[in-house]
Amino acid sequence: MFFPSEPFRIKVVEPIRRTTREEREHLIRESGNNVFNLPAEAIYVDLLTDSGTSAMSDNQWAGMMLGDESYAGSKNYYHFEDTVHDIFGFKHIIPTHQGRVAENLLFSTILKEGMVIPNNIHFDTTRANVEYNGGEALDLVIDEAYDPHLDHPFKGNMDLQKLQATIEEYGVERIPLVIMTITNNSGGGQPVSMENIRATRALLNRYGIPLFFDACRFAENCYFIKEREPGYQGKSIKEIAREMFAYGDGCTMSAKKDGLVNIGGFIGLNDDGLSEKITTRLILIEGFPTYGGLAGRDLEAIARGLQEVLNEDYLHFRISQVRHLGKMLDDEGIPILKPVGGHAVYLNAREFLPHIPQAQFPAQALTVALYREAGIRAVEIGSLMFGHKDPLTGREVYPELELVRLAIPRRVYTTMHMVYVAESIINLYRQRNDIRGLKLTYEAPVLRHFTARLETVETSLENA
Ligand code: F0G
Repeated sequence: MFFPSEPFRIKVVEPIRRTTREEREHLIRESGNNVFNLPAEAIYVDLLTDSGTSAMSDNQWAGMMLGDESYAGSKNYYHFEDTVHDIFGFKHIIPTHQGRVAENLLFSTILKEGMVIPNNIHFDTTRANVEYNGGEALDLVIDEAYDPHLDHPFKGNMDLQKLQATIEEYGVERIPLVIMTITNNSGGGQPVSMENIRATRALLNRYGIPLFFDACRFAENCYFIKEREPGYQGKSIKEIAREMFAYGDGCTMSAKKDGLVNIGGFIGLNDDGLSEKITTRLILIEGFPTYGGLAGRDLEAIARGLQEVLNEDYLHFRISQVRHLGKMLDDEGIPILKPVGGHAVYLNAREFLPHIPQAQFPAQALTVALYREAGIRAVEIGSLMFGHKDPLTGREVYPELELVRLAIPRRVYTTMHMVYVAESIINLYRQRNDIRGLKLTYEAPVLRHFTARLETVETSLENA
């Protein structure tokens, strides 16, 4: 396998600083062993998220200078609307300042108490917006998605039997729409096949239920379809995207991912009445319908980013860079979630640190060790993020998987940075028996992982 080489050259550089081990020891202790509390300046390679962290192109920056900041009818809005319409095809395009606002506007408009929203797997903000508005968020992905060792080309697929059973159980009137998250972030950035999207649409047609996409990483999903699904090798990414969205009635989008920008999002939909209701709410909380919480220059950057993300040289590099990082780790026996998804490599912390029980947050311990050893920031997706007390028994409930996500920002780090990340993790794996578990000293009542503070457990058996 060739090292993926960058389909761009560097015109502007942003210096990043190497810290000493002593500095990092001090900073991570000060942060309460929580990488969300670290100053970003003290991080060498930041893999906390691929969201809003992309590098924009010279073409996008040039577009920023053409920002038309008129309150209503900015020319950038028309460019944005035309571009989104051209790729996604939906009749109404409503700009928002990021993805979760699009979710909030949609669910606060359509949900009533007792309704359910099926999805392959809801992302955290989607789930929270559904639940906050009185709905129940159901994850109906295929069972294969939960086996970290199983290689399956489309692990993000919806389980159609589960979906049909859900519709029969709850009834059509309690399901205002079904969502398909492409790629499926919470399941490891795994794609959904066109066949599965088509079959989901056909099933929903029988009941008259609309299909929406959570489209953040749509271009990466299209690239996987082109690469893996028979019949798509000769099609362009745009053709694949258009076919895919033609099976839907609408979407929510965080442009902070495949929009290749640092802020922005939108809702796309065909229903005139729903669009009108959402637009009324938009004016209340985001802004006038031709800017929706964004500056004109941001809309221009999104319009240009959405065209660039369809470029196959770009997508080939993007997907290969992430996959190559996974391969470097896998070749050395580092336990990772397979297959490697579109935007991130996930370390399997239970297998990396089998001596640390789930009660001592193995994935968080690994995240902290990775910063301490190498100045790399990843994010824990394990018992710190998802563990909770059962309201009935009062006992701690742990998630199935303990993962550490290494999310790769788009066009930001070179392949040499990825080699650095791989070597650091391989090095850490050799010293894994020295890594100790953690215990909480502070936790907030909800979304505790953002603000939690923890300390090292002195012996691995303490509190086990
Ligand atoms: N849907 C998915 C699938 C996402 O991954 C995200 C954000 C959102 C919706 C919300 O979009 O941040 O613009 O409000 N994911 C980021 C991440 C935060 O790190 O995975 P937003």
